[in-house]
Amino acid sequence: MEEIIPSIPFILEGILITLKFVLLSAVIGFILGIGVALAKLGNNKFLGKLAGAYTAFFRGTPLILQLVYIYYVIPQLTPWNIEPFVAGVIAFSLNSAAYISEIIRAGIQSVDKGQFEAAKALNIPYFKAMRKIILPQAIKHILPALMNEGIMLLKESAVISVIGVSDIMRRGQIVAADTYNYIGALTIPLILYFLMVRVLEMYGSRVERRLSYSD
Ligand code: ARG
Repeated sequence: MEEIIPSIPFILEGILITLKFVLLSAVIGFILGIGVALAKLGNNKFLGKLAGAYTAFFRGTPLILQLVYIYYVIPQLTPWNIEPFVAGVIAFSLNSAAYISEIIRAGIQSVDKGQFEAAKALNIPYFKAMRKIILPQAIKHILPALMNEGIMLLKESAVISVIGVSDIMRRGQIVAADTYNYIGALTIPLILYFLMVRVLEMYGSRVERRLSYSD
């Protein structure tokens, strides 16, 4: 077991890369997801169809395939090379936006219609009503679903190891191949992912409790 100890810091350094990756993908995916959800609910038929097709595509194909597609196919079709980390963030945020848009659509539809009508009666413009009245209430309803998506992103991020991003997963595999100590090298990532998910869950229930004060 001792042969694994010098490699522990190397695996731990993956935490920062994994966290940076997940945070970036989650934030971009969330913003995109709001846009796609608004397109689905809006009056513009064309935008609605486009948003539907977007969701169908990103939910209908495997995330790992979307990832390698962006990483390997884009450089063949265009003059641009792409960093593995960047390809990962693009794939994960596009994919997550498809799921998040459905969560947000459900959340907006869960807010009572009277709220829209009241805002309209008070002459509050659409986007302002969305931002100040509807979305804050919707967020409260969909927090558990968003938490699921966050956990999914965190764990599924291990997939970026296949294009060579030095995240926790990849570092564990490198150490395993180096030392032949698979138990040690793979158990450390197992524990790290588990602890990170636990922290996320604890943070999520705190936010949920805080937001429910006003109920
Ligand atoms: N492994 C699944 C896939 O290949 C992950 C889907 C991503 N899910 C999500 N909620 N963003 O499609």
